[in-house]
Amino acid sequence: MGTNEPPRLRGVLKEDLSAIADLEATAFGTNGLTRNALDVIFDPSGAFWLLAEDEEGVWGHSVNARGEDPHVGWILGMAVHPERQGRGWGRILLQASIDRLQDSDINVIRLLVKRTNKLAYRLYESFGFVDSGERADHFGPGEDRLVMSLLLSTEKPPKGQSSPPFPQVPVDPQDTGRTLNGVAAGPQIPRDDAQKWYS
Ligand SMILES: CC(C)(COP(=O)(O)OP(=O)(O)OC[C@H]1O[C@@H](n2cnc3c(N)ncnc32)[C@H](O)[C@@H]1OP(=O)(O)O)[C@@H](O)C(=O)NCCC(=O)NCCS
Repeated sequence: MGTNEPPRLRGVLKEDLSAIADLEATAFGTNGLTRNALDVIFDPSGAFWLLAEDEEGVWGHSVNARGEDPHVGWILGMAVHPERQGRGWGRILLQASIDRLQDSDINVIRLLVKRTNKLAYRLYESFGFVDSGERADHFGPGEDRLVMSLLLSTEKPPKGQSSPPFPQVPVDPQDTGRTLNGVAAGPQIPRDDAQKWYS
């Protein structure tokens, strides 16, 4: 079903949140971000939250934020609807997320991924993300998550070109998990600018 057109990317608006909640439920089941959670992260995520759509609707998103350390960015969640998976949308969303964070003076991008999510793990690895820690029981008992990190070059590559991966990203001993709860700590980009970014 659907077209084979590439996605259009834009910043997320409040009125997109219901569609994103549906997408999260489809992609992650009960582990998906709920509408309430999406409401909470809407303001802190600012212009970093990207949505992927085509003329048939909203099919993907990547919610990104600046951490407590303003030079650390987080990819808090990423999903593409099964009806659009395997067409390069995830790769496009991930590259755009990296570009967006790198344009905002972020030097390291971190994310959490389930060890068994091989497809997502390999996608991140192919962009240069490396294992940089593990959070036991992060989402409840038995719900461990790997931390993956991408150290960005301070020399910005032209848009659309992957940042060169660095060979090693050290485990951050200060990373206690507080960063994910402190997404509003760093200076944010006004959401209005997000609408201009991909136009
Ligand atoms: C992970 C996810 C975002 C990838 O999105 P996507 O649009 O399917 O990804 P792409 O089409 O860009 O493909 C990315 C890579 O995965 C591979 N891939 C995608 N679907 C695949 C499948 N069903 N089987 C095998 N490989 C697959 C592609 O070949 C591609 O690899 P390549 O670039 O080396 O060829 C998507 O699968 C998803 O939303 N999954 C559920 C939610 C999730 O796990 N999110 C990540 C949480 S950390």
